[in-house]
Amino acid sequence: MCGIFAYLNYHVPRTRREILEILLKGLHRLEYRGYDSAGVGIDSGNGKDWETNAKSIQLIKQRGKVKMLDEEINKQQDIDLDVEFDVHLGIAHTRWATHGAPSPVNSHPHRSDKTNEFIVIHNGIITNYKDLRKFLESKGYEFESETDTETIAKLVKYMFDNREDNDISFATLVERVTQQLEGAFALVFKSVHYPGEAVGTRRGSPLLMGVRSDHKLSSDHIPVLYRSSAKEKKSCTALSRTDQDTCLFPVDEKAVEYYFASDASAVIEHTNRVIFLEDDDVAAVVEGRLSIHRIKRTAGDYPARAIQTLQMELQQIMKGNYSSFMQKEIFEQPESVVNTMRGRINFDNNTVTLGGLKDHIKEIQRCRRLILIACGTSYHAGVATRQVLEELTELPVMVELASDFLDRNTPVFRDDVCFFISQSGETADTLMALRYCKERGALTVGVTNTVGSSISRETDCGVHINAGPEIGVASTKAYTSQFVALIMFALLMCDDRISMQPRRREIIQGLRVLPDLIKEVLGLDDEIQKLATELYEQKSVLIMGRGYHYATCLEGALKIKEITYMHSEGILAGELKHGPLALVDKLMPVIMIIMRDHTYVKCQNALQQIVARQGRPIVICDKDDYESAKNSSRTIKVPHCMDCLQGVLSVIPLQLLSFHLAVLRGYDVDCPRNLAKSVTVE
Ligand code: F6R
Repeated sequence: MCGIFAYLNYHVPRTRREILEILLKGLHRLEYRGYDSAGVGIDSGNGKDWETNAKSIQLIKQRGKVKMLDEEINKQQDIDLDVEFDVHLGIAHTRWATHGAPSPVNSHPHRSDKTNEFIVIHNGIITNYKDLRKFLESKGYEFESETDTETIAKLVKYMFDNREDNDISFATLVERVTQQLEGAFALVFKSVHYPGEAVGTRRGSPLLMGVRSDHKLSSDHIPVLYRSSAKEKKSCTALSRTDQDTCLFPVDEKAVEYYFASDASAVIEHTNRVIFLEDDDVAAVVEGRLSIHRIKRTAGDYPARAIQTLQMELQQIMKGNYSSFMQKEIFEQPESVVNTMRGRINFDNNTVTLGGLKDHIKEIQRCRRLILIACGTSYHAGVATRQVLEELTELPVMVELASDFLDRNTPVFRDDVCFFISQSGETADTLMALRYCKERGALTVGVTNTVGSSISRETDCGVHINAGPEIGVASTKAYTSQFVALIMFALLMCDDRISMQPRRREIIQGLRVLPDLIKEVLGLDDEIQKLATELYEQKSVLIMGRGYHYATCLEGALKIKEITYMHSEGILAGELKHGPLALVDKLMPVIMIIMRDHTYVKCQNALQQIVARQGRPIVICDKDDYESAKNSSRTIKVPHCMDCLQGVLSVIPLQLLSFHLAVLRGYDVDCPRNLAKSVTVE
């Protein structure tokens, strides 16, 4: 949902070529967040003095993926790539269109005027942009794009031109702008009036900073400066350029580099030291020093931001020998589920520990109901585990799509426990639902894959699924890890229930062998590729199942839809005769999931109903299921495991199938059209 990236080098000489390379690489890493168009804003002077060079800004923008922008940059005749900058700020953006079609003019950075006095990059949506635009138009501003973002660029110039204090700082200016904005945003600004300075801020959309210096940083915290605090008033209220010297990030060394990015994957190859900005933080770099400002201190606000050390490795975000991130992530699942369980399950004494829940587990055990709230694939992980959660917790469990949950104003009570399942931890609908539940006093639990994400920070407690970075837009390994994390939670909830112990032990031992069984299913890849060659020209695929595998049907159909653009529907086999059966004939491709669990006989009935309408379904079934094989056109035989874990195995053939179908249809697997990985708008 748009990726923003900025790079500031302070007394670290870099040629324009190097700066552009860093910006483009940052955009490549963030491309999964949107790939409709991309752009960069850099200093355009070609002299020896960086400050003079920074008095004019050049924008280069292009429709399409970052590769197209790269080509566009190489076409520019007037750009001298060898000029060296001792100090420079470059900002860059990859877009997922919300307001205005993908085109160079709607691409970011957006500008205040034709001379590019102020430029800005934005991730999010400004909901009051029409009012702001009307106001600015009445003041004579002419707009060139259809975007909400352009109003921000114009507004900052308006504030600057109408300032009362001549030496107003860039941070103050931006703070005044953000006070006028409604909606969600992460923003980074650059201006000819503030050479070598950068200001970034966020509300509702993610933004972090990376810091790199060859010297040891003199502190691992940056104090937050509150405008309204009496103590800091003297140094920070005015926030003029000179005052800012008194409220600085304590770096003593002269040379330092800063990065602003929507997520850590874009900075990890430069530094592992990052600062996660909070909503309404205004982070300013002036003369190589960073300060973080807020208008006022609110309850629970920690008055400093930690410089954290990321554990992520560059290796984790590289494709390696795979043709796409999605393929790599599918094949990583034997490892990623181990990482989800690592240090949490003791298979010898059948115990489960979830450090992130330990202070709240007693309260959770006393609750009135569990509500699992999520979107897309993460929602399916909730559907997949509801039955075992109900069984092991003996609590009512609701599974809710975040957008619908909010639309309904669903009643939530203080004794509810609400789970927010999200790979990115930034999905706007899920985040809004989290705030909604918090306001109503419910205990909130995050199940996320992204350390430092908004959902992991705003929930009372939670479980990190530790699946490692997921870059492919279609979620795969996050699903199986969410699945396993929720099962571990269910096991924890009943660890002192004597009557549950046999079942608990069985599930824990099932989890022990799960990674090896996943490997076995991945061994079906060639067989599934062959199946894909038979199906890839079809228009539609129906996927049917019930019980533990209803979620697999929904998830398999979502994978097929999003990356192959074929129509696909996940159908609860119990509903077949209430309508969907009308779709079945000898031509309609049908995939059925039939496993040896308590729904087996009913699934056989559904299979008969399909066969009676001349359907010859492809059946995903247990290895030794000869009954299903008799009535199918083809079987995909997966190893047998515990009933409630079988869904981890049954989904993998469908992940592989969607991947091969997309490749055969000639589509970009990692970047499906119209989609983005992290959906930070409602
Ligand atoms: C599908 C997919 C989406 C996400 C959904 C929620 O493959 O990736 O449906 O699952 O947008 O995203 P998160 O889990 O980041 O909240």
